[in-house]
Amino acid sequence: MTMTPRKKIIIDTDPGQDDAVAILLALASPELEVLGVTTVAGNVPLALTSRNALMVCELAGRRDIPVYAGADRPLLKTLVTAEFVHGKTGLDGPTLPEPTMALAKGHAVDFLIDTLMREDSGSVILCPLGPLTNIALALAREPRVAARIERIVLMGGGGFEGGNITPAAEFNIYVDPHAADLVFRSGVAITMAPLDVTHQALTTRARVAAIRALGTSLGEAVAQWLEFFERFDEQKYGQEGGPLHDPCVIAWLLRPELFTGRDCHVAIETASPLTQGMTVIDWWGVTGQAANAHVLGGLDADGFYALITERLARFG
Ligand code: RIB
Ligand code: CA
Repeated sequence: MTMTPRKKIIIDTDPGQDDAVAILLALASPELEVLGVTTVAGNVPLALTSRNALMVCELAGRRDIPVYAGADRPLLKTLVTAEFVHGKTGLDGPTLPEPTMALAKGHAVDFLIDTLMREDSGSVILCPLGPLTNIALALAREPRVAARIERIVLMGGGGFEGGNITPAAEFNIYVDPHAADLVFRSGVAITMAPLDVTHQALTTRARVAAIRALGTSLGEAVAQWLEFFERFDEQKYGQEGGPLHDPCVIAWLLRPELFTGRDCHVAIETASPLTQGMTVIDWWGVTGQAANAHVLGGLDADGFYALITERLARFG
């Protein structure tokens, strides 16, 4: 039986409860080789996103995973954070021990560049789950990496769903629209998981109960993260559960058949005070501009949660 080679990925993240579940999903999946985790300021400041990434790797029993701290602010804008969603630590919910793992030495952007220049060209997938600052800095610092990245699979943006931090903009893109603009113009193959698909991945009571029913301390921690994280969106959208955004990135790598989507041209608004951070997705191809992203639109939500629950069970 020919084994499919493991996909080599780097997760760039601003944990965030949903980032945490995405990292756990990746670490539980033998199809993926996580070369490292890079952190960026976003949901909470960099010191906390870095602490949180270490905590998640430790919770997964993966002290071997190098975690590199990256950009502490967007390229040009002043940092906007989201404690109102994720709590003051960014991982509010369960009480977990402070990490004993140390950050890897060096800057995340140097790790991204060094890894992409070392690994076989076209063999590394980048999985940004937060603002795209680190990715943009790597592309600007070393333009040769663009041709060496297999694909960027990112959570960000919104189409028909609109925005979540402003009426027009989704948080990750809004925090650093200039970085997003550089990434979407880079020519690198992109798969984009916008709010249109992540809002179909709701943390309903039954889905959280299934994770809690794993009966493990990790399952309990995840259930408490989801119960904390979902409150904001439940109040805002008036529906049961909140959208579990970031694990859509990892789930697409593992089981792309859970998703539908189409190749579209995507442009980023960087200037307008009214719509800065908006992702203008040409879903109907009216501009005639060449597609620069595969934009996800549909999700088998039950299959998505079955995958997450089954993989979380592997931590024992
Ligand atoms: O808008 C949702 C995105 O913003 C997710 O990545 C969440 O973690 C926050 O970073
Ligand atoms: Ca995130």
